[in-house]
Amino acid sequence: MSLGEVRASRRIVFSGLGALGVATALAGCAGGDDGGSSSAKVASGTELASTSEVPVGGGVILTDQKIVITQPSAGTYAAFTAVCTHQGLLVTSVENDTILCANHGSSYSASTGEVEGGPAPSALAKVEIDVQGDKILAA
Ligand code: FES
Repeated sequence: MSLGEVRASRRIVFSGLGALGVATALAGCAGGDDGGSSSAKVASGTELASTSEVPVGGGVILTDQKIVITQPSAGTYAAFTAVCTHQGLLVTSVENDTILCANHGSSYSASTGEVEGGPAPSALAKVEIDVQGDKILAA
């Protein structure tokens, strides 16, 4: 397996409903060892993703770093912990400007991380990012 294949397998990209079933299964497994912790610490300047990986209205979930990056409107990016505030599992998808946690049905704004529905008691914590050209870096 090449490095490129490894990197690709650690990212779950969402642009619509098509990938939901598979992505839900992958993300659900990835969250099992979390224990309720927040995003992994990522050194400032670390490349998290390329802008082309993050669809408008959708997002990408970085399972290793436990970060979800969204693009609520063209050219505007946001990032949050991917650890759901309900029971600490990883969120499972991003679609239609909403971050979803299918584990128990919580949903969050892809723009602000605020709770939109479900049992989640609080918003997803914001993760600072720096977009430079086509690269999204940890700030
Ligand atoms: S862990 Fe996300 S809704 Fe329960």
